[in-house]
Amino acid sequence: MKKDTKHIPVLLQEVMDTILIKPKDNVVDATLGGGGYAREILRKRGVLIAIDRDPDAVEAFRKALSQEKEFQSLCEGKDFHLVCGNYSQITEILDSLDIGKVQSIVADLGISSDQLADEKKGLSFSLEALLDMRLNSTESIQTASHIVNHWNKENLIRILRDNAQEFNAVSIVNAIIEARKKSVIRTTKELAEIIENSAQGHRKKIHPATKTFQALRMEVNAEMKHLEVFLNASIEKLESCGRLVVVSFHSGEDREVKRIFRTNARGCICPNEFPLCRCGYVPRIKILYKKPISPSEKEIQENPRSRSAKLRGVEKLIMT
Ligand SMILES: C[S@@+](CC[C@H](N)C(=O)[O-])C[C@H]1O[C@@H](n2cnc3c(N)ncnc32)[C@H](O)[C@@H]1O
Repeated sequence: MKKDTKHIPVLLQEVMDTILIKPKDNVVDATLGGGGYAREILRKRGVLIAIDRDPDAVEAFRKALSQEKEFQSLCEGKDFHLVCGNYSQITEILDSLDIGKVQSIVADLGISSDQLADEKKGLSFSLEALLDMRLNSTESIQTASHIVNHWNKENLIRILRDNAQEFNAVSIVNAIIEARKKSVIRTTKELAEIIENSAQGHRKKIHPATKTFQALRMEVNAEMKHLEVFLNASIEKLESCGRLVVVSFHSGEDREVKRIFRTNARGCICPNEFPLCRCGYVPRIKILYKKPISPSEKEIQENPRSRSAKLRGVEKLIMT
């Protein structure tokens, strides 16, 4: 059963102020979620292409929109397109809709509060569920349970460190390996308890299982791999002067967004000693903000989940 939680969009005003939609602009919301950004795009009369890999999110939004008076006159197929798909497939998705270049693309990475509260998904350590964590069960067969019960020690430590910067990776993984010798770790609460017991005596601001759950979710859903493909493909799909805005909540994701933006903004990568450019790379985008935009104190107070959000934006250069 789903708890009654509602996702509150993060940095909504800042996202909208960056993309500056004009009526009839093609605007991709690559991470529809609860539709906080999507509704705002529709209010500005952009043509919305909303993508989410989670079929539940797409269906919930379709249903909600049909019941909201403000949007009832809008017509799917003309004013908006709802697509259940992975944002790494943005090129194929736009091609299938016969849409060439777009004016804006927004992405708000990670998962929504609605997904966290959905017991079926097994994303939360505080709700008892099978350890699944797939956002779309048709995309892959690998679940969190498979990783926890079958991966070797080195690989488990690697994902905890790489995906979530978990300093206690070794002691957590040792505890997991001891526990799984006795019986299969099946549920979220079983895993959370193993981690809690391994962390006794550690002083923590967050629940000791937070980072392990985040690392597993990112691995199950291959989040970093899809992010890289998505960012490069999105830059390609932007019209000249079009804008791409990404909100991330996690330092690894933000580093990846910054790296890809910088690579595309830099152009030539030849060593300094080359008198002439041989690589042929030219800058494709301009970085809009030197430093990422963070939520205001007011937003953090109203929505503590926004605390770690960082917004980065780029503009496509005029390509000759
Ligand atoms: C933080 S929520 C977005 C919230 C949304 N901006 C709002 O205001 O309600 C992130 C959403 O992105 C989706 N998502 C994550 N990875 C994705 C991917 N690779 N492709 C498409 N959607 C993805 C998740 O399923 C989730 O619904």
